[in-house]
Amino acid sequence: MSSNLSKNTTKKILVTGGAGYIGSHTCVELLNDGHEIIVLDNLSNSSEESLKRVQEITGKTLEFVKGDIRDHKLLNSLFSNHEIASVIHFAGLKAVGESVSMPLAYYDNNVNGTLVLLEAMKQANVKTLVFSSSATVYGDPASLPISEDFPTSATNPYGRSKLMIEEILQDLHVSDNSWRIALLRYFNPVGAHPSGRIGEDPNDIPNNLMPYIAQVAIGKLDKLSVFGNDYPTHDGTGVRDYIHVVDLSLGHVRAIEKLQKTAGIHAWNLGVGKGYSVLEMVAAFEQASQQPVPYQFAPRRSGDIAACYANPEKALNELGWKAEKGVDDMVSDSWRWQSVNPNGYHS
Ligand code: NAD
Ligand code: WQD
Repeated sequence: MSSNLSKNTTKKILVTGGAGYIGSHTCVELLNDGHEIIVLDNLSNSSEESLKRVQEITGKTLEFVKGDIRDHKLLNSLFSNHEIASVIHFAGLKAVGESVSMPLAYYDNNVNGTLVLLEAMKQANVKTLVFSSSATVYGDPASLPISEDFPTSATNPYGRSKLMIEEILQDLHVSDNSWRIALLRYFNPVGAHPSGRIGEDPNDIPNNLMPYIAQVAIGKLDKLSVFGNDYPTHDGTGVRDYIHVVDLSLGHVRAIEKLQKTAGIHAWNLGVGKGYSVLEMVAAFEQASQQPVPYQFAPRRSGDIAACYANPEKALNELGWKAEKGVDDMVSDSWRWQSVNPNGYHS
């Protein structure tokens, strides 16, 4: 691993936010697929250890540059010192609740950060971008499953930052149709690499269901609060489309390949197409871990919707991508990561 910015002539993929949860898993799949990568990450929500383990899993090397996507000078030097062919852009802040209390930080990191990145790409004539969007851009959908042509909306600054970036990218493509852009709308990414070496490592008490359940199962947290048991779903708890992070990562590899062949801007849902309730996820986790996951019912969490799952047909038809892993893989891989690394990368 090096942060050497000397001239290098092999065509590379720049992965912003590559040390994070989804980024690190995607680095594994990109390296396995023979790509050369440079990771740019400010480590605000990750540790360099994840990248050491990515290299250990793959037996391949990557370049790491510690820095911020809002640093114009650094970005310009990265693009002028390396032959970068495309960018996969994960870097950003992602906690919905925090975005409500710190909207300026979210707009600065996510929207301004993306603008700085796009300006540097434009200057360097690098016009292929895969962007981490989210199913949150569908707001509360009128029907299910959700297709890419559904109306978009946002209910919190995090979601609005994703929607703004999607709209900025649409405008950019109108101004210059040689851009090749993928808007990957992730549903609920969960699980970990089957090696147990990389996984989700929240800095604080987890906001999301799966890491919370995992920390209850290992005994770090007492019990899960199930937010709402009176939703119009089969058991009253919220239903989501959980997707294994390895499947999600492979979706990025397929998207990069597709953009090499086709110009344009495209939105693709990355989901399984099936919904599971909170209680079903708890039961599956208990089964895989053979540990109890005590829970209590609590009021609905503000801003939550009853149910959300994808129509993943467009990604199948256009990318040849489909999620292969089921809930059993998601919970058993998540448990392996949690039990082998009880304190994440600081274990
Ligand atoms: P993560 O926090 O694990 O990864 C994000 C990475 O970006 C971290 O390593 C962080 O240090 C880095 N980063 C943040 N701001 C930066 C900046 N200004 N400059 C450089 N690096 C910066 O999150 P993740 O779960 O891997 O999510 C990756 C992307 O996918 C994010 O854009 C997120 O909004 C999006 N997304 C995530 C989910 C999810 O549930 N995890 C769902 C939909 C979309
Ligand atoms: C899943 C279900 C909760 C925690 C969020 C973002 C979304 C995307 C993915 C980034 C819901 C319930 C949760 C808990 C619970 N992120 N739950 N107790 O809310 O679907 O999506 O992460 O783009 O934008 O909003 O995911 O994992 O937080 O919740 O009962 O302690 O679990 O109510 O039904 P969500 P989640």
